Amino acid sequence: MSIYQIAVDGPSGSGKSTLAKGVAKKLGIMYLDTGAMYRTCGLCAVKNGIDPKNEEQVNAMLDDMKIEVKFENGIQHMILNGEDVTGQIRTPEVSMAASSVSAHPKLRVKMVDMQREIAKSQTFVLDGRDIASNVLPNAKYKFYVTAPAEVRAERRLAELKELGDESQSYEEVLADIIKRDEQDMNRAVSPLVQVPEAVVIDTSKVDIEQTRDLLISYIEEVR
Ligand code: DC
Repeated sequence: MSIYQIAVDGPSGSGKSTLAKGVAKKLGIMYLDTGAMYRTCGLCAVKNGIDPKNEEQVNAMLDDMKIEVKFENGIQHMILNGEDVTGQIRTPEVSMAASSVSAHPKLRVKMVDMQREIAKSQTFVLDGRDIASNVLPNAKYKFYVTAPAEVRAERRLAELKELGDESQSYEEVLADIIKRDEQDMNRAVSPLVQVPEAVVIDTSKVDIEQTRDLLISYIEEVR
């Protein structure tokens, strides 16, 4: 069968990663989490004491920043300058830094080039913010996954708890989500947008398995 791509875009905590992962597993295809790539850039800034909002500083950081995406048994690992940092990129600090560094065009070009290169080798489902609008405008299937900010905050809180991080209250997590939405939707380059042809999926309505099957049913309908 020929190679095709599925684009899944949506705001933070919408459940798009869980969904994309589920789709990949069920269809036996690869999954690329593009947010993890921006998170690794954010981590690089944090580790090097670079202000993630400062474009000049971030651009200077790019020369020495070597990012690799490795798949081990289908699981994505992020390698930063030779170190596997997969376990370090989900903290609130790195989340915010990722959102800030991802606004800078030079860094985005670097990530988008890598994403296109990876996705052309095999059938992939990719999740992110600009997959349908920018990375793969010719993707065969496009989905926009969303949920109200309050629902997303509840989910993020549970995720953090699972990671053993209870440092933030619900109100703080919600404020972070709203701030990140603001940054991700209003930046000048490749903001989070819903392309007109995308199928919109609200993950607060039904459980994740039903949502995944709904998404797969759209794919099978077109296939
Ligand atoms: O999906 P996520 O929360 O792991 O993404 C982390 C940050 O990376 C998010 O705040 C915005 C940015 N991002 C992006 O700009 N473009 C993408 N394709 C994916 C993520």
